[in-house]
Amino acid sequence: MMYAAFRSIGAYVPAKILTNAELEVMVDTSDEWITKRTGIKERHIAAADERTSDMGVKAAELAIKRSGLAKEDIDMIICATISPDYFCMPSTATIIATKLGLGKVMAFDISAACTGFVYALSIAKAFIESGMKKNILIVGAEKLSAITDYTDRGTCILFGDGAGSAVISATEDKNEAIIDIHTGSDGSFADLLMTPNGGSGSAHDELDREAAGCYMRMKGNETFKVAVRTLTADVVEILEQNNIESSKITHFVPHQANYRIIKAVGDALELSDEQVVLTVEKYGNTSGASIPMAINDIYESGKLQQGDLMLLDAFGGGLTWGSALVPFTGKAIH
Ligand code: COA
Repeated sequence: MMYAAFRSIGAYVPAKILTNAELEVMVDTSDEWITKRTGIKERHIAAADERTSDMGVKAAELAIKRSGLAKEDIDMIICATISPDYFCMPSTATIIATKLGLGKVMAFDISAACTGFVYALSIAKAFIESGMKKNILIVGAEKLSAITDYTDRGTCILFGDGAGSAVISATEDKNEAIIDIHTGSDGSFADLLMTPNGGSGSAHDELDREAAGCYMRMKGNETFKVAVRTLTADVVEILEQNNIESSKITHFVPHQANYRIIKAVGDALELSDEQVVLTVEKYGNTSGASIPMAINDIYESGKLQQGDLMLLDAFGGGLTWGSALVPFTGKAIH
C-alpha cells in the first residue's frame, strides 16, 4: 500500500505592504476597527506585472528544493486559485509547470476558494494512494488585489496576495501518511461570497469591471457565523473519527480569514495559544494561499519539526470547507 506524505513546504510573499493606515485614506475605516474585528494589521500586494503564476513559481521552487527531489521527479501539479492568470484558460498550473521547467506533467487548477489548498491536498493523496502518481506539487497562489474593490470597506481591508506550495510524495511508511482529509461544500450559500461576473453566467458585453461585478462581494457577517459553525464542526468530526485528542495536535493551521473566527474554533477545541498558528495579522486573508503560507511561517521560524502533527482547517466561497490531519515528514529547517 502506498501512502501520501507531506514532504516539504515553501511560500512567497510580495514585497509591497498595504497597511491599515493606508486603507484609512482609501475608505471610511480605521486601524482600530480593522484590528479589533479581524486581527489584521497589514497585507502584501503583488506588483502590477507580478502574476499569480509568478508567485506560485517562487513558492514552488522553495518547496521542490526543500523536498530534496529533482524537478524531473515531479509528476503532477495542482494549483488552487480564485485569481488565476487567465479566468478560463490556460490554467495557472500549466503556466507554473512550464515556468518551473517541469516538463509535460499533468497540470490543472481547482476552484474551491479558501479551501483550495485542502482540496488540492485530498486530490494529491488520492492520486498517490491509487498508485497513479508519485510526487505531486500543490500550489495555493492568489493575486486577490486584482479582484478586490478598493472602494468596498467590507472586503478590501481583508484580502492580500501571496503563494504557498508543498510537495506530496508516495511513501510505504504508514507513520508518514496523511491520516485523513474531510471535504465538503454547500452551493445554497453561493451568494455569501462571490465574484458575480466573468463566468458563463455573466453578460460578457457589459464588462465594465465594477458595474459588471468582476470584484469579490461578501456578506461578511453571515459568512462569519457560518464559518465559525462549519470550521468547528469539521475539526471536531475529523478528530473524533480518528480517535485523536486535540492535545495531540502540534500545530492547528486554520485558514487565516479573521482572528476572531480562529480564536472561536481554537477555544472550542481547547487548544493552547502555542498550538494555534496565526499569520492573519501580517498577511490578511490570502484565500487558497493562506494555509501553505502559514505552514511555511512555522517551518521557517523553526517551530515545525519532522513528525509534528498538523491539523488543517479551511472554509471559503462556494461554500466549501475541509480539514486534514497531516504529519510533517520533511526535514526541519533548524
Ligand atoms: N471599517 C469600519 N466599519 C466597517 C467596516 C470597515 N472596514 N466594514 C464594515 N463596517 C461597519 C458596517 O457597515 C457595520 O456598520 P453598521 O453597524 O452601522 O451597519 C458595522 O461595521 C458592523 O458590520 P458587520 O459586517 O456586522 O461587522 P463584523 O463584525 O461581522 O465584521 C467582517 C466584518 C467582514 C470583518 C467579518 O464579518 C468577517 O470576517 N467575516 C467573515 C470573513 C470570512 O471568513 N470569509 C470567508 C472565508 S474567506
